[in-house]
Order: sequence, then structure tokens, then C-alpha cells
Amino acid sequence: MKTSEIFARAAEIASKPLPSLNSIALNASINEIKSRTKRSAELTERAKKVLPNGSQHTLPLSNPYPFFMQKGRGSLLLDVDGNEYTDYILSGGAIILGHNDPELIQSIQTLLSTKTHFHGHFDELELDAAEAVISFFPSIEKVRFTASGSEANNAAIKIARAVTGKKKLIKFLGHYHGWGHEYLMDVEVPGSGKFVTNGIPDEYMDQTILVPPNDLEKLEDVFRAHQADGGIAAVIIEPYGAESGLVPIAEGFNEAALEMAHRYGALYIMDEVVTGFRLGKGGAQQRLGVMPDLTTLGKGLMNGFPSCGAVGGKREYMDAANVSIPHSSPYTYVAGTLSGNALSVAACKHVVTTLATTNRLKIAEKMAEDVVSKLNTLFTSYQSDFFAYNIGNILRVELTAPHAVPLTSQEALMEVVSRRQILSSYSAIVASTGVLSRHGRDFVSCAHTEQDNDRYVAGYEKLLQSFSR
Ligand SMILES: Cc1ncc(COP(=O)(O)O)c(C=O)c1O
Repeated sequence: MKTSEIFARAAEIASKPLPSLNSIALNASINEIKSRTKRSAELTERAKKVLPNGSQHTLPLSNPYPFFMQKGRGSLLLDVDGNEYTDYILSGGAIILGHNDPELIQSIQTLLSTKTHFHGHFDELELDAAEAVISFFPSIEKVRFTASGSEANNAAIKIARAVTGKKKLIKFLGHYHGWGHEYLMDVEVPGSGKFVTNGIPDEYMDQTILVPPNDLEKLEDVFRAHQADGGIAAVIIEPYGAESGLVPIAEGFNEAALEMAHRYGALYIMDEVVTGFRLGKGGAQQRLGVMPDLTTLGKGLMNGFPSCGAVGGKREYMDAANVSIPHSSPYTYVAGTLSGNALSVAACKHVVTTLATTNRLKIAEKMAEDVVSKLNTLFTSYQSDFFAYNIGNILRVELTAPHAVPLTSQEALMEVVSRRQILSSYSAIVASTGVLSRHGRDFVSCAHTEQDNDRYVAGYEKLLQSFSR
């Protein structure tokens, strides 16, 4: 689907009142879930006592409570009460081959019988993984592994500052790059500013300038305005737009923004933590034909194995990411005890090599196209404004379009909040059919089939049937 159509249809949804959910249908779905997830309910109570907010992340479904899982295989998950689900949340995009991909697990099991990590020494697997990443992405000549996508972004920003000798960072409204001090602002809802920034001193945030995506004029104004106070070190971007394309980037924007960044002496960082392994070989940059200076990776890089992140880029920039005492210029310290540990790099080598040498990514994309086409047919048949589209095997189902509400007043903020809150009820109705979809911000793995897609579509049909007519 074209960017212009996505914007127009999301704006149309945002301009209308939310369709009203039938409370009897919603309660029936919630009760159905509760009746068969008693163990998850008990564990949720335990979790509330020992985990902040009873959770590790914002990802688990919250209505009525998160499900505790015990097994995964391919597209399926089995919860602790013995219920099976078709999973389209896929650890927020980290699971790309499918849950517990048999060949990946086999290779890790073999490895674990001999080693864990040789910090302070070296393992050839680290080189194999680095070479696999480099051969996957045309813009990457050297790579450093990190423990997460957030760490990769922290590293990229430090490298850009060391290389350019400048301080300021440009970040786009609504784009998410993890939980680092300089970019955990204005996330998810464009215009929400410092909504979730408690605990971060203003001095950090002052180094970041927020710019609306797709607005080259504004971008250039910012570059010009900051020439006098030391200039911009880097532009960081989700190359297909906020939340992996939920608020898309206009065609041609990346090229123009990169060219502008270079004209003003800044580096262009593509955050490919999600897009890196979901759009085919070479990631978003290959698809867009735009080669960034630095690329950050995570999630799909290791198919759910931990210590998952990497920053890579041009040799002259990456060489600044030193690990010894300063002896070269530019220099910055980027290193972690368990970064590049044997388990992580073995998983990375297996995943990246598999994606590069098989047609599994192509099949996953076909599956994403299949489910999009089936969903859009369904939505049309119910005369619903909902719509679906895919970017590679990233699946987006636009339901209430909170991001398309212009944040111009307190009332608009409340409208955004209610459009976001209702999504947990939508996800609960879909989950009552045994399908895991988180607010329609979903993913397709290399293990998904047309039968899985039919189940997903049936889950959304139940949602459509749950609105008052
Ligand atoms: C685009 C993007 N960048 C960075 C991150 C942060 O990665 P991590 O959660 O591994 O720190 C995420 C996580 O959702 C992401 O979606």
C-alpha cells in the first residue's frame, strides 16, 4: 500500500468517532479467556509482587492479564494452562525463523555442551557472525555486538559524536529507538514530547532535537539553526517510519535527509533493529537504495536469543568504537562483558546465514501479503475502516489510528489515550480465538502458513462481530 493511501486512510479513521464495542460481546470474550487461563491468572498475581508493574515490558497483553507461556514451536505457543495460540506478536519482532527453530536449537545445543563465553579471549564464532552480518548489509564494513537494540543505538550515537566532534542528535517525532536517555522522548505518539521521560535529566534531552518526519524544510531549519551552537552529530531514523511503518516515511525522504545530513557534516544512523531482517537481504537500506553511515540491529538478529544487538557501518567510523585506552582519534568506548558471547554469536551466525542463503524470507513476505489481502477483503465485507498492509514480513493492521490525531489540545490528548486504551480490548477479543495480535502491530515469521493466516483473519472477524450495529 502506498504511503499516501496509508496516511489518508489513517486520517479518515482518526476523523471519525470510535466504533462502539458491544460490552456483552467484550465481556463474553474476557470470560472465555479467564475460564481457560487460571494458571496465568495465578502467576499474574505472583508477578505483581515481584516485578515492577507486574511485568518486564509493555509488550504482554494486558486484558485481562498476560498469558504465561511454556512452549513455542514455529508459529505456535502453548500456555501454562495448555491452550495453544497462533502467535503474530513474535516477541515484538524478534522471532523471525519461528519459535524454537529446530536447526537453530540444534546448533545451540551442540555449542552449549562445550562452551558459554570466553570473555577476555576470542572465539572464531565472533568472526563468523560479524562476517555474516557484513555480507548481509551492503553499508556495513565493521560491526560491534551489543546487548540490545537500545545499546546499539547508544553506541551509534556515541560513535557519531566521536567522529564528528559534535553533540546534538536529530530524532523524528514518534520514532522509537529503545530506552536510552537521548531518544526516549516523543515515542509512539508523535507530538507527545516528554510524556515518558521521568528520570531523565533535561540536560540529556536538550541534546536531542525533535523534528516531524517527512518535513525536509523543518529538518534543514534545524540543521541551520544549530550550526552556531556546535552543529548536529547525527540523524537517527526508523527508515520505514515510526513503529516500523505505522506512521510511514514518504518515498524519497531517506535519500534527501541523508544527503542533507552529509551536507551539514552529520552522520545518518538507520535504526534497523526491526527492519534489518524483515525486508529481505540488505534490510530497509537495500530496499530503499539508501546507504546509511551507521546501522543498528537487534531482535531478528538472534531469533530470541539474548545479548542481541549490533552496530555496524563504514570502517572509518566503526574504528572509533575502541575498547582499549584512548590511543587513536576519533575514539569512544563501546564494549560489554557479554557482548558477542558464544551463545549470541552462534545464534546470530545461524539466523543471518539462514536468511541470506534460503528463500525463507521471501516465503514469509508472501505469507504477509496473503494475510493482508485476506484481512482487507474481510474489512471491506464488513464495511469497516480498518485496513492492513505489510512491509516485508512486518504486518500492520490500522484499527483506531491514535497517531493520526493531531495533538493540538488537551482534548486531543485524551482522544489519543482512549484510542490507545481500547486496543487492549480489541486484542483480548482476538486472543479469545487463540490468536495473539498486539494492537495490530504484528509480524509474520518464516514458519507461518496460510492456515495460520486463516486463523488470524477469523480472530479479526470475531472483533468485527463484537461491534454494536
Ligand atoms: C526500532 C527499534 N529500535 C530499538 C529498539 C530497542 O531494542 P531493545 O528492546 O532490544 O533495546 C526497538 C525495540 O522495540 C525498536 O523497535
